[in-house]
Amino acid sequence: MAEEIIVTRGCGNLSGTVRVSGAKNSALKLIAAALLGQGRSVLHNVPNISDIDIMIEVLRSLGATVEREGHTVAIDTADATGFETPYELVSKMRASISILGPLIGRFGKARVAMPGGCKIGERKIDIHLSVLEALGVTFANDHGYLYASSPNGLHPAKVFLDFPSVGATENMLMASVTIEGTTVIDNAAREPEIVDLANMLNEMGCKVQGAGTSTIVVQGVPLADLHPCEHWVVGDRIEAGTFLTIGALLGGPITVEGIDPDFLRTVMMKFEEMGATVTTSEDSITVQRTEPLQATDIQTLPHPGFPTDLQAQFCLLTALAEGRSVISENIFENRFMFAAELNRMGSDINLDGHHALITGVSGLQGAPVSSPDLRGGAALVIAGLAAEGETRIHDIYHIDRGYEDYVGKLRSLGASVERITV
Ligand code: EPZ
Repeated sequence: MAEEIIVTRGCGNLSGTVRVSGAKNSALKLIAAALLGQGRSVLHNVPNISDIDIMIEVLRSLGATVEREGHTVAIDTADATGFETPYELVSKMRASISILGPLIGRFGKARVAMPGGCKIGERKIDIHLSVLEALGVTFANDHGYLYASSPNGLHPAKVFLDFPSVGATENMLMASVTIEGTTVIDNAAREPEIVDLANMLNEMGCKVQGAGTSTIVVQGVPLADLHPCEHWVVGDRIEAGTFLTIGALLGGPITVEGIDPDFLRTVMMKFEEMGATVTTSEDSITVQRTEPLQATDIQTLPHPGFPTDLQAQFCLLTALAEGRSVISENIFENRFMFAAELNRMGSDINLDGHHALITGVSGLQGAPVSSPDLRGGAALVIAGLAAEGETRIHDIYHIDRGYEDYVGKLRSLGASVERITV
């Protein structure tokens, strides 16, 4: 059967400027949050990627009308009376579990297909369930669907998350904004995408304070008082970090525009630790390198720690650095598949549980490889740009989930890369 693949060739240094798209991991939740506006909300800077297509279909399955023009998406939820999401959509994208919170916030109930796991881990939702139960939600497993209801009504709560789960924080936020009284979410996730969501909720008339810190306080507002809004999605920090990796790897300078440098403080520190130079403006970051790449150790952690979504990209950097590095993956239980693929290109990475023990090598060889997940796939394409010869990357549908026009943006930097059908 015909398959689209990406073909790259080693091409020496690259330099130039790329404008990043809106953040996938924000836009997906903002589209879901539009349910609370009960009218026509407009989102700008929405990335053109397949995960967004799926979330739009989820909203349509609930009765919303969604129009898209370029990077602007208009979502009218006035007539969205449905509260059930079809398995066919949720099974394609586990992030659709983010519809749970706004459905509870609007209707007090939901019937969503249980999200499956994925290659990087089991992706449990026990924290989501425990914090929502504190609001008075009851859950039943109904033939593979999660049936959420609130027979005795909903009430505010003070909860402490076992782990600062991004998704659980977001679902708790969206469920609690219409519950009269004060809800406190402690040990909340602090990612910039949480702040973006809280900003949109407040633009809709909600009263959310503390987003971006570990303690978020929600003053409930009657649903009738909420209204649609117009909102610009923040830049995608993971896409930005992915392109900046090229500057550190090949020399650059590579500049990414449309990104708040504050989103990537830890990552910029790691680029500098490895011998690269980082400069910033208000909405751009530039990375370049003239000295040899130096080894470093990395622990992936909840924000503001080092992001797990850039672990594969730095696995590549350390694979070509002088010396030995240790990368510990503390967020997901199986996120080193990229390393196995990179070893096929000549890297020297040994896996020991949730640690990758990396000994730098002088170069990589092009090879046929398979994208293990969204971020590993993007990193394999960059590996091909640094390798001797041709690299053919398969299973690129993973990349299309989260990177808009990835090949086009790489070509704008002078990369020898193309999409072909084989
Ligand atoms: C979001 O996933 C992102 N996805 C992920 O990005 C990102 O890697 C992750 O946050 C961490 O930053 C979206 O926003 C769509 P979590 P999420 O809940 O919300 C465990 C990408 O490449 N956990 O913070 O699912 C879970 O299994 C993707 O863009 C529980 O045990 O992340 C995982 O090991 C990949 N129980 C860890 O916590 C729960 O109830 C982090 O999960 C919830 C989570």
